[in-house]
Amino acid sequence: MEVIAITNQKGGTGKTTSVLGIGSALIQMGKKVLFIDLDPQSNLTRGLGMKHVFLTSADFMMGKDKCIFNSKVSNNSLIPANDALYAKESELMGFSALPQNLLKKALDKVKDRFDYVLIDCPPALGLYTINALIAADSFYIPMQAGFFSLEGLNKVLRVTEQVRELNPNLEFGGVFITKLHPNDRRIVAKDIINSIRETLGRKFLDIFIREDISADESQIKGKLLHDYAPQSRILEDYTMLTNKILKS
Ligand SMILES: Nc1ncnc2c1ncn2[C@@H]1O[C@H](COP(=O)(O)OP(=O)(O)O)[C@@H](O)[C@H]1O
Ligand SMILES: [Mg+2]
Repeated sequence: MEVIAITNQKGGTGKTTSVLGIGSALIQMGKKVLFIDLDPQSNLTRGLGMKHVFLTSADFMMGKDKCIFNSKVSNNSLIPANDALYAKESELMGFSALPQNLLKKALDKVKDRFDYVLIDCPPALGLYTINALIAADSFYIPMQAGFFSLEGLNKVLRVTEQVRELNPNLEFGGVFITKLHPNDRRIVAKDIINSIRETLGRKFLDIFIREDISADESQIKGKLLHDYAPQSRILEDYTMLTNKILKS
């Protein structure tokens, strides 16, 4: 089992969409995927078509069984979220002397059942994100085209350096660009991409996820991309990213 976290403390950079896109590509490759929603906003949960949530990732972290829901779509399971995760954060703090290790401990018990675990993080560097990074083998950062912020990136990387003391095996997979307007590629490449390349070196994955209405539509329908729009350019781009992830 390989655990991958998608994180960025900024909202709207394409975290949830990337978890769904990478998951879709992995499922198409025949892999068994477990999705974990750690965001109280629950966009991943809704994007996978689940509406009524009684047991969440916070319950899973507290050792409760039956938090893993199997979707109608084959090879796909979900540990969902709901807005109770906001309040549960302080409950989790008091639940254990090592609250940052709860997700890892819970995942260790189910690891034989999945090829890949994809964790969707909230837009904050709090307890849920720390849990994700301690449970993860690697993490990736999506950045929105045109909104690259060195300061934002450095903030994430500083936190992960601290987490690495607790999880020395944590690998920084790299940064990729999301929501690229199909006509923007040359313009963005000129101005921003060069500075990203300079800063990140080979940690810039040179992957550009193009803007595609299928992102919104599939999530509203609660369907994965390979099911909703198998020919879409966004799935093509996420498949390219996934191949790169699998090779690293
Ligand atoms: N490649 C894309 N093309 C078009 N819309 C996108 C794309 N990626 C993300 N979006 C949309 O942008 C919004 C924010 O993306 P989301 O994945 O929810 O970001 P985050 O999880 O980081 O907050 C969502 O409405 C999503 O559907
Ligand atoms: Mg999200």
